[in-house]
Amino acid sequence: MMISETSKGKFITMEGIDGAGKSTHLNWLADFFRSRGKTVVVTREPGGTRLGERLRELLLDNYQTMHGETEALLMFAARREHLDKVIVPALDQGNWVISDRFTDASFAYQGGGRGLPIQKLEVLEHWVQGLFQPDLTLYLDVTVELGRQRTSAIKTADRFEKERDEFFQRVRECYLERARKFPQRIRVINANLPLEQVNKSIEETIISFCK
Ligand SMILES: Nc1ncnc2c1ncn2[C@@H]1O[C@H](COP(=O)(O)OP(=O)(O)OP(=O)(O)O)[C@@H](O)[C@H]1O
Ligand SMILES: [Mg+2]
Repeated sequence: MMISETSKGKFITMEGIDGAGKSTHLNWLADFFRSRGKTVVVTREPGGTRLGERLRELLLDNYQTMHGETEALLMFAARREHLDKVIVPALDQGNWVISDRFTDASFAYQGGGRGLPIQKLEVLEHWVQGLFQPDLTLYLDVTVELGRQRTSAIKTADRFEKERDEFFQRVRECYLERARKFPQRIRVINANLPLEQVNKSIEETIISFCK
C-alpha cells in the first residue's frame, strides 16, 4: 500500500455521533470541491467496497450479536479493504476523497462506547494504515439529545443507534478528547446550531485548510 507522502489528493473525513449532520454536510462539501474543479470521491465507513458494505450490514444489523473486539476487528478489516481498493488509489490519482467516518470512529465507538482498550485499537490502526492519517477531519459536535432527536425522526435505530444515551455520551467525549489530542488534524464544528450556521463554519474551516 502506498502511503500519503506520494499522494496528490487530500483525504478529508467527517466524524460525529448519529444525527450530527455528517451526511448532510458531506454532500455540500463534495459540491464545494467539485465547483472548484476537483475530482471528488465520496465514500463511507464501515463500507465503501463490496466486501465493506457486506460487513456494514452485519455490523449494523440489530439481530446480530458480537463481542466488542469482533466488532473492532470487522471495522478494521473493512477499513483495510477500503484503503486498498478505494482511498489510496483515488488519492494517488490526485482525487480528493471525503469519507463519512474513518478511524476516529473506531476509537470513539469501540474505544469510548464499548470500552475497548485504546492500545488494542492503536495496534489495529498501525497494522491497517501505518502512519497514514486523514489530512483533515471535521468533527461535528452535537449533544446526544439533539443527535437523537434528529435521527429518530427519519429512520429506525440500527445496532449502534439503539444504544443508551450513556454510550453516546462516552462516544462524544472520546471524539472531543481526540480533537484535543490532534488539534492540527481534527477541527471541532459546533453542530448544535442551525444548518446554515454549521455550514458557514465548515466553509470557513475548509477555506482556511485550502490556503
Ligand atoms: N444543524 C442542523 N440543524 C437542524 N437539522 C439538522 C442539522 N444538521 C442535520 N440536520 C438534520 O438531521 C438529520 C440527520 O442529519 P444527517 O443524516 O446528516 O446526520 P448524520 O451525522 O449523517 O447521522 P448518521 O450518523 O445517523 O448517518 C437530517 O434530517 C438533517 O437534515
Ligand atoms: Mg449519515
